Amino acid sequence: MRAYAQEDSEIAVFNRLNREYADRNLSLVRIEAMMRPLMQFLIGLGYVLILWYGGLLAVRGAMTVGQFTEFNLYLTRLIWPLIALGYVVNLYQRGTASLKRMNAIFAVEPAIKDEPTAREQPPIKGRIEFRNLHFRYNETMPEVLRGIDLTIEAGQTVAFVGRTGTGKSTLMNFIPRVLDPPPGTVLVDGVDVRDYPLARLRSAVGYVPQETFLFSETLAENIAFGVERASRAEVEWAAEIAGLGDDVRGFPEGFDTMVGERGITLSGGQKQRTAIARAVMRQPRILILDDALSSVDTYTEEKILAQLRGVMRERTSLIVSHRISTVRDADLICVLDEGRIVERGTHGELLARGGEYAALYERQLLEEELAAS
Ligand SMILES: Nc1ncnc2c1ncn2[C@@H]1O[C@H](COP(=O)(O)OP(=O)(O)OP(=O)(O)O)[C@@H](O)[C@H]1O
Ligand SMILES: [Mg+2]
Repeated sequence: MRAYAQEDSEIAVFNRLNREYADRNLSLVRIEAMMRPLMQFLIGLGYVLILWYGGLLAVRGAMTVGQFTEFNLYLTRLIWPLIALGYVVNLYQRGTASLKRMNAIFAVEPAIKDEPTAREQPPIKGRIEFRNLHFRYNETMPEVLRGIDLTIEAGQTVAFVGRTGTGKSTLMNFIPRVLDPPPGTVLVDGVDVRDYPLARLRSAVGYVPQETFLFSETLAENIAFGVERASRAEVEWAAEIAGLGDDVRGFPEGFDTMVGERGITLSGGQKQRTAIARAVMRQPRILILDDALSSVDTYTEEKILAQLRGVMRERTSLIVSHRISTVRDADLICVLDEGRIVERGTHGELLARGGEYAALYERQLLEEELAAS
C-alpha cells in the first residue's frame, strides 16, 4: 500500500470499520446498562404490588400474616434462579450463533481426499508417468495441458522449461495431488496417484511450490514443518543443503529467529531456500522444485543444485525453471509450449537441434554478456 501512496484512503476505510465496530458495541453496552436497573425496578415494583395486595388480604383476614410472610420468602428465593435462567438462555443463544459459524468451517470438505479406491501401496520408488494428460481448470476454459506423455524413471532428474503460463506449475501440482488429475493420467510407480492414500503419497513428495509459504513461527519450526520429532541436527543439515546456513548464522537467534510479522522479514531468496530446506528435510523420494531458485543468484544456485544432487542420488527430481543454468545438467529437459511438450532431450541434444531451447539458451547467454559488460 505504501508503494501506491494509498495510506490516506486505506486509513479512512480502516477508520470507518473501527467506527462501526465501536458504535455497535456502544449500542450493546447501552442496552446492557439499561437491563440491570430495569430488572431491579421491576423486582421492586413486584414487591410493592405484592405488599399492597397481600397486605390488603392479610388485613381483611383472608390470609394470615404467617402465610403472607411465607409467600414472600419463597418469592425472594425464586428471583435469583429466574434471573439466572434468563442469563442461561441468553448465553445459549450466543453460543449457538458462534457454534453455527464454527460448524460452517468444520463442515468444509477438502475437494481432494482419499478416493474409495485408495489402498496401501508398496513403498514409493519414484517412477512417474504422465499418460496422454489433458487438463482444463473448468468447462468454460481452454485446455491448459494438451496431451502430456512422459515417463520419468526413478532416480532421474527431469527439468521443465517454457514460457510463462504454459502449464508447468499445473503439471507439477498433479504429483502430490494438490490438483486432481483425470483418472489414469498421472501414475507413480505404475499406480494412479488417486489410488494412493493421500498422506502416503504426500509424505513421499517434497514439493517446493512457486509461491513460498512460511508460518509466523521460528525458522527451525518452518523447516521442520510436517516432520515429526525433528532434531536440530536434521534441521541444520537441511538448511545447509538448501544453502541457508550462512544466512542463519547471521540471524540474531539463529534457527530460533521468528519469521514474519513478529520477527524478521526474510528476503525472497531466503524464503525460497527455507522452503527448499523444508522439502529436503523430509528426505523425499520425489523432489519438485517449481521455479524455486528464481530469487537466488546463479552462483548460490549452482552450489545448492550440487548439494541437492548429492542428496537426491537415486531419488527423482523435477525442476521447473526459466533459467538454462538451473536445468542444464538434468538427465532430460522438456520444453513446454501451450500445454504440450514440444522438445525433449539433454542440454547437448537440444542445442544441436537448434529449436526453441537453443534459442532460449542463446538469448540468456546474450543477456549474461550484456550484464557482464
Ligand atoms: N487455479 C486456476 N484456475 C484457472 N486457471 C488457472 C489456474 N491456475 C493456473 N491457471 C491457468 O493455467 C495456465 C497455466 O498456468 P501455470 O501456472 O501452470 O503456468 P506456468 O507454466 O507454471 O507459468 P509460470 O512460468 O508463469 O509459472 C495459465 O494460463 C493460468 O492462467
Ligand atoms: Mg508456474
